[in-house]
Amino acid sequence: MLVTTLGLQWGDEGKGKIVDYISRNADWIIRYAGGANAGHRLIVDKNEYSFHLIPSGILHSNTRVLLGSGMVIDSDVFRKELQQLKQSGISYENRIFISDRAHIVLPSHKDKDLKLEKKRAYKLGVTKKGIGSAYASKAQRTGIRVCDLGKDMHRFKGVLKRSDRIFLEHNAEFLSRYSINQFELLSELGSDEIVICEGAQGFMLDLDYGSYPYVTSGPTGLNGIAANCISPKQISEIIGIFKAYSTRVGEGPLFTEFKKDEKDTFEYYSEKGHEVGTTTGRLRRIGHLDLVVLKYAVVCTGATSLALTHLDVLDTQQAVKVCIGYECDGTMYSYLPSSYALQSKLKPVYKTLEGWQNPTEHVQKWDALPQKAKQFIHFVEDFLKVPIRLVSVGPERNQTIYRGPNEGST
Ligand code: IMP
Ligand code: MG
Repeated sequence: MLVTTLGLQWGDEGKGKIVDYISRNADWIIRYAGGANAGHRLIVDKNEYSFHLIPSGILHSNTRVLLGSGMVIDSDVFRKELQQLKQSGISYENRIFISDRAHIVLPSHKDKDLKLEKKRAYKLGVTKKGIGSAYASKAQRTGIRVCDLGKDMHRFKGVLKRSDRIFLEHNAEFLSRYSINQFELLSELGSDEIVICEGAQGFMLDLDYGSYPYVTSGPTGLNGIAANCISPKQISEIIGIFKAYSTRVGEGPLFTEFKKDEKDTFEYYSEKGHEVGTTTGRLRRIGHLDLVVLKYAVVCTGATSLALTHLDVLDTQQAVKVCIGYECDGTMYSYLPSSYALQSKLKPVYKTLEGWQNPTEHVQKWDALPQKAKQFIHFVEDFLKVPIRLVSVGPERNQTIYRGPNEGST
């Protein structure tokens, strides 16, 4: 059985926590795209872990994880994450693999990311991890893949800098130890094995679907799976993950961003929701829940169920605003226009729902949620036409409510 997860907003929806939660019975977790620009923060029994490359399901001792073909691998970050596991007493021998089709982030990619960001009149706020340049090399057919390591590099003469070649020589043996052919691996899996695919970033940062040009350089939606020797036909469940409000790191439109007079709410959400970038340490921008963006992501990804995170962050609010459309120069939009010029002028149209003003952090069952919190969830569900099956009410693994298919229509 193959289940895939993906973020439906601008990243940081709590994918790491949800993947960890659903991985307890999984055999394999495959991260299918992105690189060390991603940051997944996990809290289990008060211990905190953060991963950028290694899939979140690694914390369960029965799982094996694969850094998939669609990824770009930073070997220094990978090394540090292995160290983190070792220090935490988590054994990873024969549990971590890297697809030999994955591309390698070179030192020159990081330099190029920096230089390009400096030159651009419009800044993207890149993570400076070399991601854009590594994917650009892949598209220009000058990229180096894990399967190239230790081989004769002569054919890359003219496109590979000396410093990059030395870096590759230095890391060849280390990375090759984890290398595996992803097709072979998947072909040998038994039909009863459970595979979870883990996305990185969010749908609105997707190169094709996102708020271009303010996006990352790889696929963040289901399109990313296709680079991983997996046919969409094989996927039985697509879990879309979103949080109860919107956040974004870096530049680009965030249609529902809090205004100056919402500074107190910003500060409260920022602290309670721990809205600081795991990768860059930057404060995330915050806004109200944008249902238009979510609808777009849900329809384009074909999400079959949803996981709502950070519900507890809204606990103290008297009213909860959700965006149900946009307005620009007298025209109403019920969907997201493509052009940035137009996007940058859109004004959100809100529906205001009643807040529940009751703590949810300790709630373990759907029935125990405050009635008004359930009403909020129903409203979102009705708008998106996809059931919300998981509700997260805090960062710990056990602060997660599973709602069965027959549970909670009221
Ligand atoms: P890049 O992925 O480093 O090229 O950065 C491109 C844009 O994507 C920037 O605005 C980053 O802040 C954003 N970004 C990249 N990875 C993440 C993530 O994991 N969460 C949130 N934003 C991200
Ligand atoms: Mg993150």
